[in-house]
Amino acid sequence: MRTIETIAEVKEARREFQGVVGFVPTMGYLHEGHLALVRRARMESDYVVVSIFVNPTQFGPQEDFQRYPKDIPRDLGLLKKEGVDLVFIPSVEQMYPAGFSTYVEEGRLTRRREGASRPTHLRGVTTVVAKLFNIIEPTRAYFGQKDAQQALVVKKMVDDLNMNLEIVAVPTVREADGLAMSSRNTYLNAQERQAATILWKSLCLAEEVWAQGERDANRVREKMTKLIESEPLASIDYVSIADAWALGELEEILPPALVSLAVKIGPVRLIDNVTLR
Ligand code: PAJ
Repeated sequence: MRTIETIAEVKEARREFQGVVGFVPTMGYLHEGHLALVRRARMESDYVVVSIFVNPTQFGPQEDFQRYPKDIPRDLGLLKKEGVDLVFIPSVEQMYPAGFSTYVEEGRLTRRREGASRPTHLRGVTTVVAKLFNIIEPTRAYFGQKDAQQALVVKKMVDDLNMNLEIVAVPTVREADGLAMSSRNTYLNAQERQAATILWKSLCLAEEVWAQGERDANRVREKMTKLIESEPLASIDYVSIADAWALGELEEILPPALVSLAVKIGPVRLIDNVTLR
């Protein structure tokens, strides 16, 4: 496994890869969710490239860029075990040299949910992902369903800009009690970690009432909201039930519908989702 820090060297290494290149972009501090993407890429590709880059342009001014968790030696150990060929770990100066001034922005799917709560977040994601695609030129890139809106927006960017790769969405990996794995879960203290199960419980409630025949999205949103509000440490950012393609809010639930939510547990903002089929 090679570890490379500069764009020029990655481009040079890429020229030696003949065949299918699978790419997994990450911000590091890897967990089983990231590794599920790597394993899927490993199964389907001749070469697997992983990037580790905490991307400053996708963090808001009040967000956790400075204290985002980091453990590169541990990450590299995990990736080596998965048979990864190349790990790209650029510096901020490599990716955003002085004078950088071009951004990639999707204009429709980014308006609501994560886009409304974190106005420049998705623009930062599409910009860095477009750069990484240009640098690595993968055949396929793998994204987690955990960040459903991110995966959709990246797919839309690839479509709209005729980029030459395929986006693959991989199911969410969860802890035993249902909490979606996330590098940010490390911010939770013991009490908050317990309270964080309310996200998964409310998604299960949505699935349950859907299975019982409920089709009124407002009633489902209300039930979820009530359940989340019963947890004293939780405060809701949004609870959304939308069509799974264009992300328009639904009144009547028609499958496939994306039920997604962002909830603060104490100071920690968590997101999760399920698709009703
Ligand atoms: P990061 O949060 O490190 O996540 C990297 C990838 O892992 C994303 O595609 C994310 O959806 C996926 N992932 C995270 N937790 C997961 C889980 N529990 N199950 C399955 N997949 C999971 O998302 C980003 O980084 C950044 O925005 C990035 C795309 C790298 C651009 O900077």
